[in-house]
Amino acid sequence: MVKITVAAVARRLIEQVRSRLAPSSEMGVAEVLVRLGEQDLGPRVFQRPEPNLLPVVDYLDECLAEVAVFDPIIARAVGELRPDLRWLQSKAYNDALLGTGFIQNYGWCEIIGPNGFFPGNDFLMGLLMLGPNQHYPDHLHPAPELYWPLTSHTEWRKGDEPLTPKAAGTVIWHPPHIVHATRTGLTPLLAFWSWTRATATPARLL
Ligand SMILES: [Fe+2]
Repeated sequence: MVKITVAAVARRLIEQVRSRLAPSSEMGVAEVLVRLGEQDLGPRVFQRPEPNLLPVVDYLDECLAEVAVFDPIIARAVGELRPDLRWLQSKAYNDALLGTGFIQNYGWCEIIGPNGFFPGNDFLMGLLMLGPNQHYPDHLHPAPELYWPLTSHTEWRKGDEPLTPKAAGTVIWHPPHIVHATRTGLTPLLAFWSWTRATATPARLL
């Protein structure tokens, strides 16, 4: 895609997520929408990520087939941006810490952020992928975090809660420093995520 088209698709994706979240009164949504409204998504700051693939992206087609039912606009936009996405992993993570196979089955990219299409101002928004039967164990970080899964059947927990399955479109809010974890079942996960501030400090496993 030419630059202007990529920018337009990235904006279309962001606007669709914004419009889907806007009616929600769930905790954290207002903060995400306020911080998103403060971000510069203009042509002057548009940047094209250096694409990077990871093994977990092999599951993207399977995820997007499910997302196409949940929200065809989002599925199409993610599919169009796919060649430009810069999939990354947290540098401190490895299979010794997280279990054999985790690194093959984990990755995230930014839509807004230093590795995304717009740099963001202490604000990140992106996509997380986990392969089937993966446990992203207890971790925490100072950034307030919103997850908005685009696929169903993944279990989530925070604080003292047990792992609980959340359907696509469920708002999941992690206040600063709260312990949280994610576990997939038989199907992979694709989820939107956002860190609304305090983005300089990475997640720490417990
Ligand atoms: Fe987190």
